[in-house]
Amino acid sequence: MAQKIIIDTDPGQDDAVAILLALASPDAVEVLGITCVAGNVPLPLTARNARMVCELAGRPDIAVFAGCDRPLQRPLVTAEHVHGKTGLDGIDLPEPRMPLQDRHAVDFLIETLRREPAGSVTLVPIGPLTNIATAMERAPDIVPRIGRIVLMGGAYFEVGNITPAAEFNIHVDPEAAARVFASGVELTVVPLDVTHKALTTRQRVEAFSAMPGKIGPAVASWTDFFERFDKQKYGSEGAPLHDPCTIAWLIEPGLFDGRFINVEIETEGRFTAGMTVADWWRVTDRAPNATFLRDMDADGFFALLHDRLARL
Ligand code: BDR
Ligand code: CA
Repeated sequence: MAQKIIIDTDPGQDDAVAILLALASPDAVEVLGITCVAGNVPLPLTARNARMVCELAGRPDIAVFAGCDRPLQRPLVTAEHVHGKTGLDGIDLPEPRMPLQDRHAVDFLIETLRREPAGSVTLVPIGPLTNIATAMERAPDIVPRIGRIVLMGGAYFEVGNITPAAEFNIHVDPEAAARVFASGVELTVVPLDVTHKALTTRQRVEAFSAMPGKIGPAVASWTDFFERFDKQKYGSEGAPLHDPCTIAWLIEPGLFDGRFINVEIETEGRFTAGMTVADWWRVTDRAPNATFLRDMDADGFFALLHDRLARL
C-alpha cells in the first residue's frame, strides 16, 4: 500500500525533481499535500514553483500550501547563486494557474496529522525545517502521530556546502532543526554524504534530454542550470541531485545504506552553527535518534528516476 506523505519544500530544481518522482510513484507514495517554506528563494517563489511543477506533472489537483516566510530566530539566507533568481531557472514554464490553498501550511500539517490514523503519515522535508518545527511547537500532540520524517539535510564526512561546517537546509534554520532532531520521531536523514554521490553526469543528463514528453527535457534543463555552479565548486563531473534521494529511499530503501546513530544540531557555534554533529563512530553514549545515510547505489537511483519519470 502507498505510504501517505507530505512534502515540505523550497523549490529549487532538485526539490522539483523530488516532487516529480513522488507524483510519478502513486504505487509507493500518496502525496497528501505540498507545504512550502522559505529557503532556496523567498516563500512567494517557492509557493509558485511548487505549483508550476505540479502542473508540469499534470497534477493541478495537488493541494499546495504556503508556510513560514522566515526561520524561527534568524534572518533568511537564500541560495539564488545556485538555483537562479526564480529558484527554478533552466526552463521557462508557464505561470501556475492552479490556486495556492488558503490555509497556512502549518495548519494543514497539524490538521492532517490529527485527522489521519496515528503513525500513518510520513513527512518529507527537503528544505529548512521551519514549518515542521513550528507545527511541533504549536501542536505538541501531533509529534507522536508522525509516522516518520525522511529529510534531506546535514552532512558529516562532507561537512558543509553553505559554510565550511553546515549544509544549507540545516544552516538556514538550525533552531528548527534542533527541535525536529530532539522530537523523538523516527528520522531518516539524507545528508550530503549521500547526495554528493547522486551526480548528474553528462550521460545521465543526456538520458533525461532524450526522454519523450516534457518531463525529461525539463529535468535536463534544470540540472544543466545548477550544475554549472556545483561543477565549478567541487570539480566533479556533475551536480548532486539532493532532494529526490528522500523519495527514492521511500520507494527503494535498499539503494541506500546508513547507521542508526545520535545526531545533534549545533545552534551556537561561532563558526559551526547549523552543523549536524553525527556520532557516526559511536564515541558518545548519547542515545541514537536518526538513521543517518552514508552510501547509495547512484546508478540504481538514476535508473529508478528515469523509469519513474517516464511514467508521467
Ligand atoms: C539542499 O539545499 C538546497 O539548495 C537544495 O534544494 C537541497 O535541499 C542541499 O544542501
Ligand atoms: Ca530543497
